[in-house]
Amino acid sequence: MTDLTQLPAWRTLATHRDRLRDTQLRELFAAEAQRGEKYTLDAAGWYLDYSKQRIDAAVVQTLLQLADECGLRARIDAMWHGDKINITEKRAVLHVALRARKAQRIEVDGADVVPGVHAVLARMAAFATRVRAGEWTGHTGKRIRHVVNIGIGGSDLGPVMAYEALRAYTQRDLDFRFVSNVDGTDFFEATRDLDPGETLFIVASKTFTTQETMANARAARAWLLASLQDESAIAKHFVAVSTNAAEVAKFGIDTANMFGFWDWVGGRYSMDSAIGLSTMLAIGPEQFQAMLDGFHAMDEHFCSTPFAQNLPVLMALIGIWNVNFLGAHTQAVLPYVQYLKRFPAYLQQLTMESNGKSVTLDGARVGYDTSAIWWGEPGTNGQHSFYQLVHQGTRLIPCDFIGVCDPLGPLHDQHDLLMANLFAQSEALAFGKTADQVRAEGTPEWLVPHRVFDGNRPSSTLLAPRLTPHALGALVALYEHLTFVQGVVWNIDSFDQWGVELGKQLAQRTYAEIIAGSEPALAHDSSTNALIRRYRATRAR
Ligand code: F6P
Repeated sequence: MTDLTQLPAWRTLATHRDRLRDTQLRELFAAEAQRGEKYTLDAAGWYLDYSKQRIDAAVVQTLLQLADECGLRARIDAMWHGDKINITEKRAVLHVALRARKAQRIEVDGADVVPGVHAVLARMAAFATRVRAGEWTGHTGKRIRHVVNIGIGGSDLGPVMAYEALRAYTQRDLDFRFVSNVDGTDFFEATRDLDPGETLFIVASKTFTTQETMANARAARAWLLASLQDESAIAKHFVAVSTNAAEVAKFGIDTANMFGFWDWVGGRYSMDSAIGLSTMLAIGPEQFQAMLDGFHAMDEHFCSTPFAQNLPVLMALIGIWNVNFLGAHTQAVLPYVQYLKRFPAYLQQLTMESNGKSVTLDGARVGYDTSAIWWGEPGTNGQHSFYQLVHQGTRLIPCDFIGVCDPLGPLHDQHDLLMANLFAQSEALAFGKTADQVRAEGTPEWLVPHRVFDGNRPSSTLLAPRLTPHALGALVALYEHLTFVQGVVWNIDSFDQWGVELGKQLAQRTYAEIIAGSEPALAHDSSTNALIRRYRATRAR
């Protein structure tokens, strides 16, 4: 592809940035009376208001032109056709097949992958139904009461997020825990009050070689056997979710108790594959299907809607505008839905492991910024912590507010209060408070500068009627596709993650040095050598 910064649309966007440099959101709203209705979209149950972004019709038009010049349509088609668009790992990228309808046909290397997806879903459903009904019992005949998912990254963040998001739909007599960190206290605290006879472990790992997960899985096996004293108990208390049957068998889990997926599912795009087994156990097969339907609805929208009305495409392009033309370094995600408390953490892996890259598909160094730093916390909690900086700090921080109209809990008045806060925050960020307004409140002159809000801080708001499994699926698919679109424009491989490898390799070498019986000869830099020596000398064994 031609250098992105040389594309006509990119150059025009730079002129729009200069044109709008001194234009405030206040003025944009004054100039377009219907702005709050005009810059909105509805898709798959979600309503997007992007009117408080620092854009006008010409900017949107040019962003859409940029998508065309980057060949977005062809890249979307390539994804759906099973082309190996993860070029560095030579893999297809087909998370959309995980929620395809039975009648759909999606091919990888000439073979339709949809029947395999539905076969695994059927096995998951049969298993989940037995556990939820108390028919799958532990080694001593007790009913399973606790499910512990062991996994990390995509094998943890999606399942945790979905469990927290859909708690209202869970079978409350089943208790779910998630162990990810190699820090042994994670496993210890998650299991210290559990009865092994009532506990089911899901070892979730695409590769089944991940250091943290395997260490925790070994700890789980030892913990279980210390109590049940019988190797055959493993079969009743361990299931695996993986693409690697050989390693699963080597670990000692019967592959009859393994739920598979495929190398065309990236770890951070896998929460709706068998990696979502804990989700299905928690909410049941029907609600899991409703979640898949939500994913599918957003997939259909993304794949078939013209870009001008396409929710993931527009949000992605606005993100590009904010990062590459307005100079934003971060993107905040602020759910005003307590159940979505883990959504920002989930999004961090999705967006930053995907688009935290600095070479193009051809291996050339990029000449522009790529992924924003994604972060966030639920509102209103964040308002009492970091919002000060978002309102009055020196940095531009675009925000995605996420809210729902009907609460799932019983305290409806509090929901109105919650949503009032959401709307108030986006209004305050956009329009601020001028010095004259501050003076008119009787503020002494010396205090005026401190109480002024500049405004002109961009945000979008996403609203759904309520947080259902369908709404969650659609929301996740929205951000999956947004991530892909941004990667296409930046011309990077959004589906590999080489940047996590070096640390893994060095940790292996360092671990051997740390546990060595006699003082090892260290050949790191002087800082790392000294840290290892101090640790060895101080560590009480
Ligand atoms: O370290 C990064 C990573 O490879 C992620 O991409 C992945 O989600 C995570 O590790 C866990 O991998 P696995 O599911 O193979 O254990």
